[in-house]
Amino acid sequence: MASAVCIDRCICSKVPFTELKEAAERTGADTIESLQAVREFGVNCRLCHPYVRRMLRDGTTEFHEILRDE
Ligand code: FES
Repeated sequence: MASAVCIDRCICSKVPFTELKEAAERTGADTIESLQAVREFGVNCRLCHPYVRRMLRDGTTEFHEILRDE
């Protein structure tokens, strides 16, 4: 059965994690803050932060589970 949860972007800024991953690879940004310097995202509810952190760690851009801030 397909998972009901699919999180693949910063919803507030409408920026897909695939775009953030590209920006990270292009610029070498490896933290939320350094990534925000090159791409606007994650400034409203910040619920995307744990996902972006995971993405920066292991490259995942699509999540089927709820992540909370670590
Ligand atoms: S989902 Fe990224 S700031 Fe709200």
